[in-house]
Parts: sequence; structure tokens; C-alpha cells
Amino acid sequence: MAQREGLGPRGLAAVATLISLGLFQNGMGAKGDAVSCGIVPQAQGRITGGSNSDPGQWPWQVSINYNGEHVCGGSLVSDQWVLSAAHCFPRDHSTSAYEVKLGAHQLDSFSSSMTVRTVAQVISHPSYLQEGSEGDIALLQLSSPVTFSRYIWPICLPAANASFPNGLQCTVTGWGHVAPSVSLQRPRTLQQLEVPLISRETCNCLYNIDANPDEPHFIQQDMLCAGYVKGGKDACQGDSGGPLSCPAGGHWYLAGIVSWGDACGAPNRPGVYTLTSTYASWIQHNVAELQPQVVPHIGESEPDSDLCSNYGALNAAPAWGLARPILLLPLGLTLGLLRPRLEH
Ligand SMILES: *[C@@H]1O[C@H](CO)[C@@H](O)[C@H](O)[C@H]1NC(C)=O
Repeated sequence: MAQREGLGPRGLAAVATLISLGLFQNGMGAKGDAVSCGIVPQAQGRITGGSNSDPGQWPWQVSINYNGEHVCGGSLVSDQWVLSAAHCFPRDHSTSAYEVKLGAHQLDSFSSSMTVRTVAQVISHPSYLQEGSEGDIALLQLSSPVTFSRYIWPICLPAANASFPNGLQCTVTGWGHVAPSVSLQRPRTLQQLEVPLISRETCNCLYNIDANPDEPHFIQQDMLCAGYVKGGKDACQGDSGGPLSCPAGGHWYLAGIVSWGDACGAPNRPGVYTLTSTYASWIQHNVAELQPQVVPHIGESEPDSDLCSNYGALNAAPAWGLARPILLLPLGLTLGLLRPRLEH
């Protein structure tokens, strides 16, 4: 897609120079130099749906481990802070059992570009109460700052007034399941998938098709949808907390955080993300050094209600009768729910 080429060869060369000069090693997130967030400091290929990424293609993607297992994704937003989803950090989980892997490409192979940090603190949004509630966002402070490289680089945080138009092609990345209950095969290469943004109204309309009245789903104000009405391509378990990266003006912005969905890749059930810009002031209030960026104007949203109105009667009947809502619960945590552990 054209959006992936927002940063021209000149920009890339400039970034490469800055990296080699070591200019971005400490100050990222401090006032003034944050404009270098959200660039991928290397040439890259085209994205197709649900494919292996290239090393260094999504350098803000991190893997969050709990007791040594990958459970969630996250996004690097400065040299010491990661954004993820609150549901990845249940209250009874000890912070000391978490680790963050940065610069990883294949989770099962060693790479010298990879580095690991423990977690100094987790700040979950106080309004997150349970699955599907608002506020599914958490800030993680790494035990010590990381050095930026072509494999480890922060993404831009969108300012509160950011608006990403419907239909914008964004990319979700993660090491999660490739289908419900089907885990990613070794060597677990980071997966990427292009997904168009869907308006909240249309997304609520879609989630009402074949809805189970006992388990209503509601796309709240702080949520963003992206994906395909037909299904088949979506984020899934283990992707939670990871980035929905959207391009604007030559930078990538953390438009959304993988939050939940109703199964993965089911028809009329696009992925639901926490709308990061809603929490710009909460983020700054907690971590003053994190500076949300004003997102350049990309274009107006066109109405997309036709995505939903084409369905209804025709498609309503059988296909989705068995559907039970499945949160994009991270691997391992899902097991944890079945066999609760108490840790303090
Ligand atoms: C967002 O706010 C900034 C100033 O803080 C302003 O320059 C920009 O035009 C605003 N963008 C939109 C889309 O309103």
C-alpha cells in the first residue's frame, strides 16, 4: 500500500545516519526530538494479509512474557515505556513474573538484536474492570532504558485530537494464534496483517448481527474497529496488547491496542482495539516525558454503513449460531483462567 512508503529514501538515509551517530540513544520522548518516532529505519517490502514480517519492520513491537511464556504484545513508546492492554495484567499476577522482549523477530530463535527487560511497574487504567469494559490500556515501565537500533524503535503516540479515517489501511502485528486455538508455528515469526479501519457505528451494527442476547457486545467510545466483514483475517489470542499501527505523514502512529474480538476472523466481527488517542492525557499525566504527537490530517471519513446494511436478513441465519464471544485473551492467561493461580 502507498501508505507504507510515507518515508522516502531521503528520510530513510537521514534516519540511518542519525542511528549511526547514536543520536537517538537517550532522549527519545524528551521534548523536541520525539518527531523521530514511528519511522522504520530500513527499506521494506509490501505487506500482504497475514504474512511473516521482515526483521526490523515493526521495531516497536515487543513480546510480553509471563513466567517465561509469551502472553501478550506491546508497543515501545520511549526508551523506557511500553503500552499494552490492561487485561494482560490481572491483579493477582506479580509484576516480577513479567519480562519484555524487544527487538525480537522469531520468538524461537536467538538474535543478537534482541534484548530483555524486567518490568519496574505496571500502570493499568483504573476504569478497566473486566472483559469488554473501557480502559483496556496499561503502561509498563522497563527496569532500565533500552538503546534504540534498527530493530528497537518507538512508535508515535497520537494526540487526543487525532482522527484516523474509516478505510485507512493500518497494520496489526503479533505472535498470537493464527486461528482460534491454533498457535503460531515455530520459529514463531512476527506476523503482520493489513486491516482497514471501520467506524464505531458500523462496528456496533456488525456486532449486532447474530448477536447472543445474553452476551451483548458494545463498542465503547474508547474503542476502534479494524478488519474484514467477511472474516478470515484478524488478530487473535496472544496478539492482545500489541500495536495497530497507522501511517500518517511519513510516521507510524499507535492508533490502537489489540483488545478483544468475538472469536478471531469470524464474519461480521472485526477486531476491537483500544483507541489510544482517548488516553493521551492519561498517558501524559502518568508519564510526563511521553509526548503524544499531533497526527497530520489524512483525509475525511467516508460513511461506511454499507458494510453492515448489506448483511442482516440474507446472512443472518445459521453461519454464526455457535458463536461464543472469545476475548483476545493472551496465551497462558487463558490457561491461567482455567486453573487460577494465586500470586502475591
Ligand atoms: C490538533 O491540535 C493541534 C494543536 O494542539 C492543532 O495544531 C491541530 O490542527 C489539531 N488537529 C486537528 C485534527 O484538529
